[in-house]
Amino acid sequence: MKFNIKTDSIMDISADIIIIAVNDKNQIINKSKLKPSCTTYLSNIISSKDLLGDVGSILLVHGSKDFERIILVRTGDINTFSYKKLIKITQNVVRTLKNLKSKNVILPIEQFINNQISIQNASEFIVREVINSTYEINSLKTKEKVIHNINICLQCESSNSNYVKLGHKHGEAVALGANLTKDLGNLPPNICTPTYLANTAKKIAKQFKMQAKILDQKQIEKLKMGSFLSVAKGSREAPKFIVLEHNKGKKNQKPIVLVGKGITFDAGGISLKPGLNMDEMKYDMCGAASVLGVMHTVGLLNLPLNVVCLIPSCENLPDGMAVKPADIVTSMSGQTIEILNTDAEGRLILCDALTYAERYKPEIVIDVATLTGACVIALGNYATGLFSNDKSLSDELEESGIKSLDKAWPLPLWDEYQGLLDSNFADMANIGGRAGGSITAACFLSRFAKKYNWAHLDIAGTANTSGKSKGATGRPVPMLSQFLIDRAV
Ligand code: BES
Ligand code: MN
Ligand code: ZN
Repeated sequence: MKFNIKTDSIMDISADIIIIAVNDKNQIINKSKLKPSCTTYLSNIISSKDLLGDVGSILLVHGSKDFERIILVRTGDINTFSYKKLIKITQNVVRTLKNLKSKNVILPIEQFINNQISIQNASEFIVREVINSTYEINSLKTKEKVIHNINICLQCESSNSNYVKLGHKHGEAVALGANLTKDLGNLPPNICTPTYLANTAKKIAKQFKMQAKILDQKQIEKLKMGSFLSVAKGSREAPKFIVLEHNKGKKNQKPIVLVGKGITFDAGGISLKPGLNMDEMKYDMCGAASVLGVMHTVGLLNLPLNVVCLIPSCENLPDGMAVKPADIVTSMSGQTIEILNTDAEGRLILCDALTYAERYKPEIVIDVATLTGACVIALGNYATGLFSNDKSLSDELEESGIKSLDKAWPLPLWDEYQGLLDSNFADMANIGGRAGGSITAACFLSRFAKKYNWAHLDIAGTANTSGKSKGATGRPVPMLSQFLIDRAV
């Protein structure tokens, strides 16, 4: 995948394929920029009504004098053209390109802008979606791997080229960050272990001159992370507490801390999960994968911010040594927890990471976790669950989600729900019953996040798809990257 940006006029760029947008009135949007011979040729084809159908439908035509191939694509009414339509068009174009031999493409960006879509954003979303839709799972299938060598020339007027460049830069950084997240999520749990996540953090640190610190079992014990360690007890895989710091902001600027749930496999522990679809619990480290993906994006853009990434990582398995229902553990904060269900383990590892975050005196802390099945029931697979102890932070994240087409929806953290976590024997229980399951999980976390502004993203429904097209989505990397990019200006 290669992009370049050119400001020559369309007819002066040599390419095998050009993308040409056609509106709802069957007009070629860029008509004035093409040679008359080319427009006559295309107008005849368009009037033959071969290009029908919805926005995004495509007609591949051959052999005008000027281009070997032309991909005609329907935009509909350009006044109501939207980001969603732009993405659909990009996906369809990429699908067509994958099947073609020649892959030198010229894509004039200005065909896709209107009052709502700026040239920079058009460039950003096109680049992001091209990289997203050419992603191939790093599978362990032994046949040859598919590599898509597509060269795309983003063509624009010279007055627009700086915007196109910036859009390209952001789009590429976000998509590559999200692809790292997908890679980590899709790897099998016997490969993507806590140690593997730790090594990934070290690699990111090396690539972008960040600082990585990996704490092992002994160091975690020394920190008194009794809650985190209780989950790790049932597994022979070494737990890791991963710290990755990007310090490119002002010296006295308080950091933004990102915390990711890194359960590399969640069998439920002694409260064993049913067998059906249990393989999908390899995705229970997608919170960790997404904060690492965001760090990759932050590194690529070298954002002038201080960002810290914290990942508690272990497996949740049944074993003779595993933590049991009724066990009481002491968290790093000193608060005691009665574990009534060992399958509610995400909050048990996150709470200690939230306490660890205090040492940074953070500006804000955002945790990301595949935390509750209840969140999937509440919001389905479209929106990430958003909880916060600070309304303006919540609004800001919601806005980042809308802007990046990676949406989150707020759910309440009201005191009424806190009582559901009462325990007869400890400061709190780790579950609050079936009703409002994602809210009680967030309420549990909130007890460890009192010293700073905090948000919690429940990505149980958005981190991966299920069934036949099973795979990690790379969410919420676009949303969090947008949030940080907007904070960096
Ligand atoms: N990792 C799961 C949550 C999950 C479920 C993510 C389905 C994605 C899809 C989490 O550790 C869990 O098991 N949560 C329990 C909590 C319950 C025991 C209170 C759940 O949601 O059932
Ligand atoms: Mn669980
Ligand atoms: Zn889990």
